[in-house]
Amino acid sequence: MDLEQQARVFLAQAKRAAENAKNAQGLNAAFQEYLGRRGLLRDLLRNVGSIPELDRPRVGRAVHIAVAAAEEAFSQKLRELEAHEEAHVLAHERLDVTIPGKKVHRGRLHVLNRLRREIERIFAGLGFSVAVGPEVEDAWHNFDALNIPEDHPARDMWDTLWLKSQNPSTPLGILSSPKDNAEPYAEPRRTIPRSSALGSRRAGVRRSSALLLRTHTSPVQIRYMMEHQPPFHIIVPGRVYRFEATDATHEVQFWQLEGLMVSRRDDPDPVSIGHFLWVIEQFYSQFFKKSVTTRLRPSFFPFTEPSFEVEMRCLFCGGRGCTSCAHSGWLEMLGAGMVHPKVFRAVGLNPTDVQGFAFGMGLERLAMMKYKIPDIRLFRSGDMRFLQQF
Ligand code: FA5
Repeated sequence: MDLEQQARVFLAQAKRAAENAKNAQGLNAAFQEYLGRRGLLRDLLRNVGSIPELDRPRVGRAVHIAVAAAEEAFSQKLRELEAHEEAHVLAHERLDVTIPGKKVHRGRLHVLNRLRREIERIFAGLGFSVAVGPEVEDAWHNFDALNIPEDHPARDMWDTLWLKSQNPSTPLGILSSPKDNAEPYAEPRRTIPRSSALGSRRAGVRRSSALLLRTHTSPVQIRYMMEHQPPFHIIVPGRVYRFEATDATHEVQFWQLEGLMVSRRDDPDPVSIGHFLWVIEQFYSQFFKKSVTTRLRPSFFPFTEPSFEVEMRCLFCGGRGCTSCAHSGWLEMLGAGMVHPKVFRAVGLNPTDVQGFAFGMGLERLAMMKYKIPDIRLFRSGDMRFLQQF
């Protein structure tokens, strides 16, 4: 077969190969076979130089025409494949910009977390910093150091969830400052000598290492006072646990907010009940965003003396009496008192050197008051209709 005939045969084969290609990849492979650097038709072009001079123009033209025709066949097929691909994309990946968008559901903070942060901000503005302590406590911090010894009837006031693991070496979380703490802990200005003879945990109060879920945030008072020197002003938000039947105002797990403000007695303005009343009225006014009226009622807590409960004039009825305040016009808001001398002794401070107040309130009950929520169990019900209101 001479070159001219070969060119005709290869051209016919190349056209068939181009026609049969299913996609761009297959087309390219066929192109390389005939028109690539070592392709069959390209080889013919190279061979034109070796034929007799007389035949060269005719044969050369014929081979060139075959190469050009093959190139056109491949280009034509490539255009077809691209058009087909575009049609496929248009048919299957059609974007209708007129379809209404899908709603993205944004998460939000739980109402109790939002209020806790708000409360921390209010107290930061009043000069308080935030302290936290472990939820798994030992009985010494939860009861004994707070003047509630094992055989004291006051222990009956809290129905406790005791833990089975009674390993006294179990490490408990140490007092620490949360990362988003508004302010660092107050640094001690003067060091008050701690007297072990006055009854540190080694001397006076009997230590119990039994583990439990803390029943209140008051043990953090103990942890803080053992590590710091007065004066200090702290709040302690935290979860607490009680083994009791639930109802509209009682939960097994709830949040408390403890407060502790202690100064030296020889301070020009030592911490008194007057300071407590001012702090608490400021807090309620800012929290409820209206001026509130409070009053003290005598009460009993083993770790404060005197002890009192703070009542607030009912926000629902303005004091006229309604179902929320049991028609008394007043609502019980928190327990408080001046820190008991035995508590100071338990942490190694001399009660003749220092004095201060402590208070503890329930966060859920504050939230219930603020938003008129009728049942405490709604907070952990997971009911989105309830949660999305806040
Ligand atoms: C105490 O827990 C004391 N540690 C408070 C205290 C601190 C007094 C410092 C003096 C000095 P009490 O048991 O009353 O006290 O609880 C305090 C608040 O927690 C109550 O006023 C109430 O708001 C809330 N609370 C108590 N029990 C429950 C419960 N089961 N469910 C929801 N909230 C509760």
